[in-house]
Amino acid sequence: MQTQVGIIGGGPSGLCLARLLSLAGIRSIILERQTREYVEARIRAGILEQGMADLMRRAKVGERMDKEGLLHDGIVLTFDGREERIDMAALTGGKQVMVYGQTELTKDLYDAVLADDNITVIFETRDVHPTGFLDGRPQLDFVKDGQQTRITCDYIAGCDGYHGASRAAVPRTMITEYERIYPFGWLGLLSETPPVHEELIYANHKRGFALCSMRSHTRSRYYLQVGLDEKIEDWSDERFWDELKKRLPEHIAANLVTGPSIEKSIAPLRSFVAEPMRFGNLFLVGDAAHIVPPTGAKGLNLAASDMYYLSTALIAHYNEGRDDLLDRYSETALRRVWAAVRFSWWFTSIMHKFNEDPIEHKIQLAELDYLMSSTAGKTTIAENYVGLPFDPTF
Ligand code: FAD
Ligand code: DHB
Repeated sequence: MQTQVGIIGGGPSGLCLARLLSLAGIRSIILERQTREYVEARIRAGILEQGMADLMRRAKVGERMDKEGLLHDGIVLTFDGREERIDMAALTGGKQVMVYGQTELTKDLYDAVLADDNITVIFETRDVHPTGFLDGRPQLDFVKDGQQTRITCDYIAGCDGYHGASRAAVPRTMITEYERIYPFGWLGLLSETPPVHEELIYANHKRGFALCSMRSHTRSRYYLQVGLDEKIEDWSDERFWDELKKRLPEHIAANLVTGPSIEKSIAPLRSFVAEPMRFGNLFLVGDAAHIVPPTGAKGLNLAASDMYYLSTALIAHYNEGRDDLLDRYSETALRRVWAAVRFSWWFTSIMHKFNEDPIEHKIQLAELDYLMSSTAGKTTIAENYVGLPFDPTF
């Protein structure tokens, strides 16, 4: 088989990249390890920055998102019994974020990609192995239905997440990896209940962090900071709701509507960056190159700038014969990556309980008190939360 761009991974990064390329007449083949149903069912991101929402529109898959997504102007921080609103729109010249689940976004992308003549998707691939990308002869070897198969292509996009095959294929001497693992995880619960509040609530509490999010007016997503040794089977729905109430101010907890969980899972928290993001004709995109702790809702939104830069650079290569943007991809993408890594680390560090030492909590409360008393403090949260701009020279 032959194509222009071989894409490993059919998550949001691979699917959206393929669409952006196709609309410029560029062909691609996507290799996905799982089935479509499996990928669509993964409960992950819920908050899209304007940059990601604009990319969906550019990829002509934004129609349902614009109809069903909820636009939010602000978020609420609670700490020390206080409830403080960050009016993001007022602090950023009108910028908003959109509540639209990754499950829905992935469905919309698959509907478009599977109907697109420029894109082929091969599901349930095994043993994907990119080779030749350092010698200008990129190939993707893989097994499908027990059959060894090969794709030759001009470029490979590694969109296969943190545990994927693309980063693993890079010689260790060519890559530097930066990593921090946090001493806690997030226990998430999805329920068919109305959200406790019309905006998201990020709660700093001496028992640990909690987050009240949503997917719609009738579906809620809640998270609790839990220890790394916690097991999902030890968390009945009742225990989850009881703990959540304890971490929210009383008047908010009083409004919480509880119900049976649809999904419950524990995710570890990690900061990770691989540098560079280009190796010859192989480019890393999204979670394959970087992971942030979820506190700032940045993971998918960070993949968005990678998709934007790489699609723009590949379109310039194919349609204008220019390679300068491909040459600048890694450096440009990494600049925004590190900015989001910093914000996600910082927001995590002021909102979570790291240890039993009471001075840590007191210092967090002093920092939050200061931030809330200062327009500059609130603005720094707002600007980062709505998303830093993409590089205008791309
Ligand atoms: P992935 O979604 O991981 O997709 C990679 C794809 O590659 C997968 O489909 C996988 O099956 C496939 N694959 C892997 N290995 C191979 C292989 N060897 N061969 C073939 N295919 C392979 N981000 C936000 O922006 N906002 C949020 O609110 C937010 N909340 C989150 C909450 C939680 C609990 C979690 C866990 C994450 C959250 N994120 C959030 C992060 C976001 O979900 C990820 O950043 C996003 O999924 C990255 O997309 P991706 O396509 O790069 O990678
Ligand atoms: C969600 C996840 C986040 O990490 C976050 O900061 C906000 C919302 C969510 O899943 O809804």
